[in-house]
Amino acid sequence: MSRHTHSGFPFDRAPGCPFDPPPLYAALRAQAPLVRVRIWDGQTPWLVTRYEDQRAVLADPRFSADPSRPGFPSPTEGFKDRSGQEAQALSMQDDPEHARQRRMLTGSFTVRQVAAMAPRLVQIIDDLLDRMEAAGPPADLVEAFALPMPSLVISELLGVPRQDHALFQRSAGTLISRESSVQEFTAARGELAGFLGDLIRRKDDDPGDDLLSSLVVTRMRTGELTPELLVETAMTLLVAGHETTANQLALGTLVLLRHPEQLAVVRDSDDPAQVASAVEELLRYLSITQNGLSRVATEDVEIAGHMIRAGEGVLVPNAAGNRDAAAFREPDRFDIGRPDVRGHLAFGYGIHQCLGQNLARKELQLAYPALLRRFPELRTTLPDQDIRFKHDMIAYGVHELPVSW
Ligand code: HEM
Repeated sequence: MSRHTHSGFPFDRAPGCPFDPPPLYAALRAQAPLVRVRIWDGQTPWLVTRYEDQRAVLADPRFSADPSRPGFPSPTEGFKDRSGQEAQALSMQDDPEHARQRRMLTGSFTVRQVAAMAPRLVQIIDDLLDRMEAAGPPADLVEAFALPMPSLVISELLGVPRQDHALFQRSAGTLISRESSVQEFTAARGELAGFLGDLIRRKDDDPGDDLLSSLVVTRMRTGELTPELLVETAMTLLVAGHETTANQLALGTLVLLRHPEQLAVVRDSDDPAQVASAVEELLRYLSITQNGLSRVATEDVEIAGHMIRAGEGVLVPNAAGNRDAAAFREPDRFDIGRPDVRGHLAFGYGIHQCLGQNLARKELQLAYPALLRRFPELRTTLPDQDIRFKHDMIAYGVHELPVSW
């Protein structure tokens, strides 16, 4: 393997292996754990493929998550185009501003808060399954269940009225598509920002019992969050909160359908710890953030024996770290009982580690068994080669999952 620049990141997956990350990761991990890759705009950031090196980058404050810094490897043109704007939500900030914003939100996403939401999550899940069952087979599992579930959850949490869900689902889809033009991206952002700006004004007039109202009352009125930054924050939570979980739910269901013995365990287990462990393995195995996490060095930093210079971009494909044999035994095997699944990087690592991870976990821990119990005969109506996998999106998944039962 040469140390020359590899073109065309993100790499292609192997034909016929829809659940495995691109095979080039394994080759690079073994022979060239730090290489330069060419991305869509011609930039050549470093690609880090080993688990330990990925953690080193993500834990090091000398790597910035601020996309307005020159050299930052943006995943798409639309993303890059908007990176110069003033108000930036926490995912695009470094400490101390990142920590300041994150502190305002963490209280709503603790294990305890999420546990308190569980009865409502169960209700949302059961209602959707009732409707799917009543409509009868066949169904598109994405449209009927995987997408509306997390979307209803995050909307309720934030206080987005039900009639507005279609708008934000559509604009969020445009925001995370690699195929969206800059115009489409900007229009979708504008539409979503306009809608959230209105919603925030309405909450200011008449606060409800929801996260957005609470942020308006306790943070916006005090000046800690400007209205613009609150719009950005709400947008980040909405987009991050439903697309990822939706993809993980649909794609994870497909993995389970292809591993019937492990599916039976998830369906029939009355041990929450066993289901929780299966969810972690699905997260590790799939690592749906297929563009990886992006950073840029603010100082010279040595990683894996190479000097990364200040201003150089770094890509951390956590899908590669999560298949590193140095961290996980037989990493390419899907095994819901693996003892070493803790420590996976599906939610990232370091200060930006997923704010919504407790919520995502609880949603998935409740949704998989509920779905599989409701439809014990669940099956896909298409062979894998005819399923449309999301090679074109920042979050990997399936566009549709036609099922019957
Ligand atoms: C950050 C994955 C669900 C909100 C992240 C990061 C990853 C990730 C990898 C780190 C990004 C980086 O370091 O650059 C996932 C996956 C999910 C999921 C795989 C579902 C299976 C959610 C949910 C929410 C959410 C439900 C909703 C509230 C966020 C936020 C950040 C984040 C706000 C930025 C945190 C920060 O910068 O401090 N997520 N996420 N995510 N996620 Fe999630």
